[in-house]
Amino acid sequence: MSRALSGRDLLSIADLSRDEINTVLDLAGRAKRGEDLGAPLHGRNLALIFQRPSNRTRVSFEVAINRLGGHPIALFGDEIRLGERETASDIARILDRYADGVIARLTSQRDLVAIAAAVRGPVISGMTDAEHPCQLLADLMTVRETVGKVAGARVAYIGDGNNVCTSWLYAAVICGLDLRIVAPPGYEPAAAVLDKAGRLRGNGTGFSVGHDPAAALRDVDVVYTDVWTSMGQEAEQQRRREDFGHLQVNEALLALAPPQVRVMHCLPAHRGEEITGSVLDGPRSVVFDQAENRLWAQMALLALVFEGVPERSATTAEVAS
Ligand code: CP
Ligand code: NVA
Repeated sequence: MSRALSGRDLLSIADLSRDEINTVLDLAGRAKRGEDLGAPLHGRNLALIFQRPSNRTRVSFEVAINRLGGHPIALFGDEIRLGERETASDIARILDRYADGVIARLTSQRDLVAIAAAVRGPVISGMTDAEHPCQLLADLMTVRETVGKVAGARVAYIGDGNNVCTSWLYAAVICGLDLRIVAPPGYEPAAAVLDKAGRLRGNGTGFSVGHDPAAALRDVDVVYTDVWTSMGQEAEQQRRREDFGHLQVNEALLALAPPQVRVMHCLPAHRGEEITGSVLDGPRSVVFDQAENRLWAQMALLALVFEGVPERSATTAEVAS
């Protein structure tokens, strides 16, 4: 059977081609407008591992799985104690015997890759320190809704060259966005990430990495930001407040952008740090629509990922007999 998505797993947004991303966004938009996606997860159990806290990722995935007829089983860091009680690979080998797929929010991308290697069903990233691909699907859907297009949209990413920024960078070169990253010196995306983005870029439109918000914001469609202190970096919070202070998304910074600019944030927000409450709650903010889009984008992703994946056909006992 031909499948809409060529791969089984989503560990990086770069696992998807531009056509595949557009296919997910098309289906997500149709689902949001009321199209019934049926029950492609009927009879399937999906394990969700959360080594780190979550609101949006967990709830949107659980609801998406339920709406598609499947059953989510969430496992949290303190019970699974990945790497301490069991290795990522041993956890995965067990989940593979019970579940039809795994969604995992982990610290380490290496652990996510180890899980994908041990699980026969689909494995989807719920974020690691390296990337946040499902966030990008919702973000691109939101750009499409608010700007009217993905390719050619002008997005300024203001803040840390972190996991979300990395996925933005890959998405931008894959989809032909014009992405301007503005980070304080020393907080730009890692050299290996920039190299990979350069390789993915081909002949498409590009990205820039700089320090001057005025140049980046002059003609943008979207200003995007994320926390200055990501999960796991709490010990650096004070230093980061000092290093990033001049890049707060506030009214003065937005005055550098066209009046119709839209503001996005993956959330959770640290109000008063990377963004002010008045901008987050103000008329240019689309952050709560963006958060809602996690649900539609992941429903579409799950429907497409499991298209053509046969239901578990046999237990080990049946195979042995
Ligand atoms: N944006 C996002 O992933 O939110 P959570 O950390 O609440 O899942
Ligand atoms: N960069 C943030 C994103 C949270 C969704 C973090 O890793 O904590």
